[in-house]
Amino acid sequence: MYPIERPRRLRVSPNLRAMVRETDLRPEQLIYPVFVKPGEMRRDPVLSMPGVYQWSVDTLVDHLTEVYASGVHAFLLFGIPEHKDETGSEAYDDNGIVQKALIALKKALPDSILIADLCLCEYTSHGHCGILTPEGMVDNDPTVEILARTAVVQARAGATIVAPSDMMDGRVGAIRHALDQSGHTEVAIMSYAAKYASAFYGPFREAAENTPTFGDRKSYQMDVANRREALREVLLDVDEGADLIIVKPAMPYLDVLSDVRERVLVPVAAYQVSGEYAMIKAAGANGWIDERRVIEESLLSIRRAGADMIITYFAPQVANWLTGRQ
Ligand code: PBG
Repeated sequence: MYPIERPRRLRVSPNLRAMVRETDLRPEQLIYPVFVKPGEMRRDPVLSMPGVYQWSVDTLVDHLTEVYASGVHAFLLFGIPEHKDETGSEAYDDNGIVQKALIALKKALPDSILIADLCLCEYTSHGHCGILTPEGMVDNDPTVEILARTAVVQARAGATIVAPSDMMDGRVGAIRHALDQSGHTEVAIMSYAAKYASAFYGPFREAAENTPTFGDRKSYQMDVANRREALREVLLDVDEGADLIIVKPAMPYLDVLSDVRERVLVPVAAYQVSGEYAMIKAAGANGWIDERRVIEESLLSIRRAGADMIITYFAPQVANWLTGRQ
């Protein structure tokens, strides 16, 4: 008999396993994305995302007050505007829906971390993330100007962080400049630095009502086949002043997440997107997987790959489990 290595020695009891556990999951690491629309007393279900709703400002405040108490303190806001137009003007209107929600949430939950998603696709009549050239291409530099202007409006309404998700070139630098010029030097930028042109965003487009009316987003979001290019995008954003960066989607891109974690010093978030959520929910509802265990495993995997924070629709549910409330 030769001596064999026995890693199982450290797995024999729950206490031993807990002692040598390399990765943890805490409610404070979770960021909860929410959808807000005009009206009152609204709580409209998103059919492809069971458990996810479109809220009006009043119901959103109540909902997030509860979620805050469970230990999730960061919220990512998406707006569904009253009117859409060519330039997405409700995005940078002081009376726009996200601005109203920011003001109300800042008042109700002054210590919460309010992250404003910064993009035009929910606000444009054509559903693209920027304004268009006559040929129908998204026009980079004029779009960046509108984004910078929107960031200032969001900061004024109380955003702690702005999160540009448009994938235009040079937007982080322009947004930083605009925020600083307008006295919002303390507002941080969390950029969707490596955002792929992913089919996993499918259910989100129902939730946020932002499906492009023609074409796709491949001329601005990244090619799903590319790994090295993600580092280029991330390093550019950090260089331009991003305080935190996002890799999106999460589970299909753990290689990218791991690369990014090794190369930058700023905190890295991963976005477990709508399609990832919907798949787990659908399989769970059918009894094909153990929903709770799969959710926990998915989040731990994302943490293990290098995410400091995770943006996830599961945030309230998981926080309740972690704090033993449910
Ligand atoms: C667009 C945006 C998208 C998501 C967040 N911001 C989708 C898109 O590019 O169409 C997707 C999030 C998700 O799928 O959960 N600004």
